This record gives sequence, structure tokens and C-alpha cells, in this order.
Amino acid sequence: MDLNQTLENLRISYQAATLDVCDCLKEPTKQFDLWFENAVVSKCDEPNAFVLSTIHQNQPRARVVLLKGVHQGEFVFFTNYESDKGNEIEHNQNVSLTFLWLPLHRQVRIEGTIQKVDAATSDTYFQKRPRGSQIGAVASPQSQKVNNREDLEKIFETKEKEFSNGEVIPRPSHWGGYKISPNFFEFWQGRDNRMHDRICYEKKNGAWEIYRLAP
Ligand SMILES: Cc1cc2nc3c(=O)[nH]c(=O)nc-3n(C[C@H](O)[C@H](O)[C@H](O)COP(=O)(O)O)c2cc1C
Repeated sequence: MDLNQTLENLRISYQAATLDVCDCLKEPTKQFDLWFENAVVSKCDEPNAFVLSTIHQNQPRARVVLLKGVHQGEFVFFTNYESDKGNEIEHNQNVSLTFLWLPLHRQVRIEGTIQKVDAATSDTYFQKRPRGSQIGAVASPQSQKVNNREDLEKIFETKEKEFSNGEVIPRPSHWGGYKISPNFFEFWQGRDNRMHDRICYEKKNGAWEIYRLAP
């Protein structure tokens, strides 16, 4: 297969739906709820997966994480606080989120500021996770270099033995949730001829201003 030939030939036209300012709900979180529900009903794979972008010194870094809640307009996910992303967030609280729901030809971009959720929220969520995932969170020094897979599995097995009596596994302090408070949303609906719809919400003096951007 010729990669560049294949790339040149990849082209689909987006005609699934349209979006106008007058279609949009006043609250961007409600608009997000609506599109998220559409993504679930349309059986998009992992509809709660989003690209989280952070800043490492001057360098953007991005990776996928899973949205686990939206509470009072704040978007919550869980991770290792000592991971690369955890360290980047420690230094710079400006982040962006990108959701892609391809079967619907939709993208949502969110920008905002991030902070840790309270310990009780992390504790509650940690206890709801499968035991194997709890042990994984205790065992894995996320984003650290490891020599090989075997070393990683040894750490897991050691922790598994430690907790083999079935006792409750306490949440490690290095693991927990973050919440993002948005100040910008863009709802992107793919359209024919690359004339896509882009409707934005920007927070200004506590109110949401809604406008359209050129594609
Ligand atoms: C579909 C998918 C879901 C993921 N969900 C999470 C998640 O919820 N939390 C997390 O820490 N990492 C998650 N990851 C792994 C991250 O993308 C990333 O590899 C990891 O968090 C380390 O990132 P960092 O080194 O930039 O901190 C997920 C990856 C994929 C592909």
C-alpha cells in the first residue's frame, strides 16, 4: 500500500446534519449533553473519550482520557497525579479537550482551567472501579520509564499479593480526579464542500456569548 496515494484518495463528504446558532441551547453544557446523548444512541465507540491537551513548558502535549462526569458544568476525569499530564497541570492550569464523534461528523472543542476534585470525590470513584483497575492504579508509576513488561507485571503481582485478603484497597494519594471549568466551547458539524458549521460559546463577564466561525 502506498501511504501517500491512500491518503490522497481518502475523502468523504459530511452530510449527516446541520447546526445554526438558533438551534443551540443557551447553556453550552446542555448542548454538550444533547450531542453526547446523540453519540451514545448512535453507538459511537468510547463516546466519552477525549483528547486532553496540556502545556509542557512551551510544548503542547495531548493524550486521550475518559470523561467520567459533568457536575455543575465542570468536566471530570481520573488519572495519576504524578504522571506527565499531572506535572504539566501543576505548572499550567490552561487545558483543552477535544471530543470526536466521527459517525455523526461532529467535533466538540472545550477550553478552560483545571483543578483537582476533592479527595472524597476521588475516594468514591476509586472504590467503584474494578479491583484489577484499582491495583493497576496503585502499581503503575504512570509516565515513568520501565525496563520491560515483565518488571511492570512484577510490580502488579506484588501489589495483588498485598491485597489478596480481599480488604478494601485505599485510593493511593497519587491517583484521583481533575475537573475542568470551561470558558470556551466549539460545536463543529461537518457539512458538504468543507463548508462546515462551527458554533462557539465564549464566557464573557459570566455570560455565554454565542457566535459562528468560518470553517
Ligand atoms: C481510549 C483511551 C482512554 C484512556 N483513558 C485514560 C484515563 O481516563 N485516564 C488516564 O490517566 N489515562 C487514560 N488513557 C491513557 C492516556 O492516553 C495516557 O497514555 C496516560 O494517561 C499517560 O499520559 P501522560 O504520560 O501524558 O500523563 C486512555 C487512553 C485511551 C486510548
